[in-house]
Amino acid sequence: MEFALLVLILASIATTTAAQAKPGCNSTCGELNIPYPFGTTDGCYRDKNFLITCSSTSRNPIANYSRGNIQVLNISLDGEIRISAWRANQCYLPSGNRSSGDNVNFRLEQFTISNTKNKFTVIGCDTYAFIDDYWGDRFSTGCTATCRNITDVVNGTCFGIGCCQTSFPTGVRGYNISLKSYRNHTAVWDFNPCSYGFVVEDGYFNFSSLDLKDLRNKNDFPVVINWAIGNETCQKARRNATSYACKDNSFCVDSENASGYLCKCKDGFSGNPYLSGSNGCQDIDECKTLRPCNGTCHNLFGSYNCSCPLGYKGDGFRNSTGCTLVDHSKQQFPYKDVALGAGLGFAALLVIILWLYLALQQRKLINLKERFFRQNGGFILQQQLSRQERTFSETAKIFTAEELKNATKNYDEDLIIGRGGFGIVYKGLLADNRVVAIKKSKIVDQSQIEQFINEVVVLSQINHRNVVKLLGCCLETEVPLLVYEFVNNGTLFDYIHGESEASDISWTTRLRIAAETAGALSYLHSAASTPIIHRDVKTANILLDESYTAKVSDFGASRLVPIDQTEFATMVQGTLGYLDPEYMLTSQLTEKSDVYSFGVVLAELLTGRKALLFNKPEEERSLAMCFLSYFKENRLFEVTESGIVDEGNIETVKEVARLATRCLKLKGEDRPSMKEVGMELEGLRRTEKHPWVSMNSNLEESEYLLHDMSGAYEAGDSSVNTAYDSMKDNILTALDNGR
Ligand SMILES: *[C@@H]1O[C@H](CO)[C@@H](O)[C@H](O)[C@H]1NC(C)=O
Ligand SMILES: *[C@@H]1O[C@H](CO)[C@@H](O)[C@H](O)[C@H]1NC(C)=O
Ligand SMILES: *[C@@H]1O[C@H](CO)[C@@H](O)[C@H](O)[C@H]1NC(C)=O
Ligand SMILES: *[C@@H]1O[C@H](CO)[C@@H](O)[C@H](O)[C@H]1NC(C)=O
Ligand SMILES: *[C@@H]1O[C@H](CO)[C@@H](O)[C@H](O)[C@H]1NC(C)=O
Ligand SMILES: *[C@@H]1O[C@H](CO)[C@@H](O)[C@H](O)[C@H]1NC(C)=O
Ligand SMILES: *[C@@H]1O[C@H](CO)[C@@H](O)[C@H](O)[C@H]1NC(C)=O
Ligand SMILES: *[C@@H]1O[C@H](CO)[C@@H](O)[C@H](O)[C@H]1NC(C)=O
Ligand SMILES: *[C@@H]1O[C@H](CO)[C@@H](O)[C@H](O)[C@H]1NC(C)=O
Ligand SMILES: *[C@@H]1O[C@H](CO)[C@@H](O)[C@H](O)[C@H]1NC(C)=O
Ligand SMILES: *[C@@H]1O[C@H](CO)[C@@H](O)[C@H](O)[C@H]1NC(C)=O
Ligand SMILES: *[C@@H]1O[C@H](CO)[C@@H](O)[C@H](O)[C@H]1NC(C)=O
Repeated sequence: MEFALLVLILASIATTTAAQAKPGCNSTCGELNIPYPFGTTDGCYRDKNFLITCSSTSRNPIANYSRGNIQVLNISLDGEIRISAWRANQCYLPSGNRSSGDNVNFRLEQFTISNTKNKFTVIGCDTYAFIDDYWGDRFSTGCTATCRNITDVVNGTCFGIGCCQTSFPTGVRGYNISLKSYRNHTAVWDFNPCSYGFVVEDGYFNFSSLDLKDLRNKNDFPVVINWAIGNETCQKARRNATSYACKDNSFCVDSENASGYLCKCKDGFSGNPYLSGSNGCQDIDECKTLRPCNGTCHNLFGSYNCSCPLGYKGDGFRNSTGCTLVDHSKQQFPYKDVALGAGLGFAALLVIILWLYLALQQRKLINLKERFFRQNGGFILQQQLSRQERTFSETAKIFTAEELKNATKNYDEDLIIGRGGFGIVYKGLLADNRVVAIKKSKIVDQSQIEQFINEVVVLSQINHRNVVKLLGCCLETEVPLLVYEFVNNGTLFDYIHGESEASDISWTTRLRIAAETAGALSYLHSAASTPIIHRDVKTANILLDESYTAKVSDFGASRLVPIDQTEFATMVQGTLGYLDPEYMLTSQLTEKSDVYSFGVVLAELLTGRKALLFNKPEEERSLAMCFLSYFKENRLFEVTESGIVDEGNIETVKEVARLATRCLKLKGEDRPSMKEVGMELEGLRRTEKHPWVSMNSNLEESEYLLHDMSGAYEAGDSSVNTAYDSMKDNILTALDNGR
């Protein structure tokens, strides 16, 4: 399960740079990012008020807001767009006659000009100017700028000498600017031949005396516009679910400056609130972005919390108390008081006490390590090792806490590749450059330590190419750490159900993966000296490496089966949709439970559907049930994934489907053993590989192959078998010791 999470997290990192346009739409025009509800082509914008036209006639593409034909500089989902607006100017001749000038009449159809973020600005030494409502007399305001002598002008100020600024009311959607002069600039013409007037984003324009002489190279200025959805309040808009714009994990706010409303992501979420799905508001992994914890960070849906490991105190938050070692020695050495009470003369004493204190601290740490080692069953393991030195050291290793700390850069949160019910998984780099996955388990129940140790020893002996290898463990830390081989190419679940690679996993590959998985499980059931029941067989627990070789992972739930018992009662554990119904009823765990789960995996490989579908009607919800009924009604090819069946493999597909139905039999004893399943799949695979083998010689061929198969087990993995024989003693002694 942890490994599955690992891969999911790796995949999601790649898509965090959010292109916030509607999926399938162009999100940029030149350097401008265009988030939905805005868009450039049909179907990409919410309504015509959000249409941006992108024309690339000049060198750089220009985005114009279609309603008003004004250039857009920037679009923000906070309800603002920045546009470019022209200035008005009026120039004079020395005689006082007008030479040239441009008026400005600016209007928007729908949105409003922000009155808090913009200023009406006028430049001139003989100037007064007005800004009026475009459509009539809703408002009119203006200011006067004069100066007698250029030396009076102060750079950077705009209070009436050469420059003046004023605000205008809310709700303005268009304005006309008119420039006037008292004396037609005759007295100031030498240093100020023109008057200028424009609306500009507050803080953008920095007045300088040079602007009086010439503002010619500043023709347009950025202006902030407020946009909103529709012209209704949130309360009214919510009533119509089809037109309501705010999607998953978002909320609605009434626009302050315009009519209409805006949507925002809820706290702890980020993304585009106007979209649903993966571009919409997504949970922020605060553990990664904020790194708020000094202890362990837990990302929750919409929030997070911190905690400290056992043996530490504090709330775990970095900006608060953090995590500190619980330290009883502190009370015995109140060195701070000593230092205060006794002045400088005692400084030496202080140093000694401090030194003692640190030494004690050091010893405590060593003691703690030792205690953990003992607690985690280190001595049991050591004992076993001293008796069976060879077998363990060849296959697995006891790592020191220091080694693993270095491998994970002191458990850097950036190296976390998975979290799950059983603990946290880090990616680590060992000193010998091996990449490994390091699993930090949840607190281990002391009563199960012995079993845990046995499991570690047995699992470390498993040397099967289709089982994720346990490389070793570390027992010096509070919770045991397990070191596994690193498998990097995702889970089978991702490959079957992932959006992008949906069905490009061919039938041949599917069949091979099925055969490999069955082989691994069969090995666990029978080849190992102590049968191991996996208990959580599912596609998410089948990892794939670069060459798509299956590797069965996560024995977190598996318990070894005592040799003298074929079934035993345990707490029902596993994943819904894969759980053996017989096991659920009786709590009697047998190897056949894994066979059932594997049957569901086969059905999943055949149909491409998930094991449980919550959005389907009751009778289609469970893939196992649904698959059985389709098969029974001879409608198999209605549920098989499109694209995998062709003339060449139709018979094999049928065979695999029949095998799946046998695995899914309600009664465990009716199901085939994992060994039979594995051989049958391997046989089918080889026939598929050699399609020239005609149907009539088929029987012979598979018989030959079956023989071949069992031979391979004996010969190829003989080293494992010997290892297992010695292991058997090992475990038996361990069990004896426990009693
Ligand atoms: C998106 O628009 C830009 C600018 O118009 C253009 O260069 C680019 O090719 C477009 N991309 C797609 C995928 O249409
Ligand atoms: C875009 O807007 C600018 C400024 O308003 C205008 O000069 C230009 O003609 C417009 N371009 C197009 C293609 O409409
Ligand atoms: C758009 O606005 C953002 C934030 O205000 C700013 O960082 C960015 O530089 C702006 N882009 C343009 C092209 O003005
Ligand atoms: C100024 O304008 C008036 C009338 O518009 C014209 O008669 C006069 O010649 C102009 N003076 C100059 C210097 O152009
Ligand atoms: C503003 O300018 C436009 C276009 O020239 C004009 O139709 C409108 O009447 C003007 N408004 C005012 C109040 O002068
Ligand atoms: C402008 O001020 C300077 C210094 O204050 C003075 O020398 C100059 O004569 C003044 N010019 C005018 C036109 O008053
Ligand atoms: C300024 O020019 C306008 C027309 O161009 C004219 O009517 C007015 O008399 C002039 N005023 C001065 C003080 O020259
Ligand atoms: C204002 O700044 C410009 C340079 O930006 C400088 O040339 C000019 O002399 C300054 N004017 C005043 C009045 O300080
Ligand atoms: C609100 O918008 C709708 C359509 O966009 C329009 O028909 C209606 O008149 C507007 N109402 C107000 C009060 O502006
Ligand atoms: C809800 O909005 C949709 C889309 O804008 C519109 O077609 C429909 O008439 C609206 N329904 C009501 C009850 O206003
Ligand atoms: C610590 O930071 C978090 C998030 O920035 C904040 O919510 C919390 O109030 C802070 N706590 C203290 C004690 O400053
Ligand atoms: C964080 O924890 C470490 C030990 O785990 C401790 O040395 C350090 O002082 C802590 N930092 C804060 C800010 O609590």
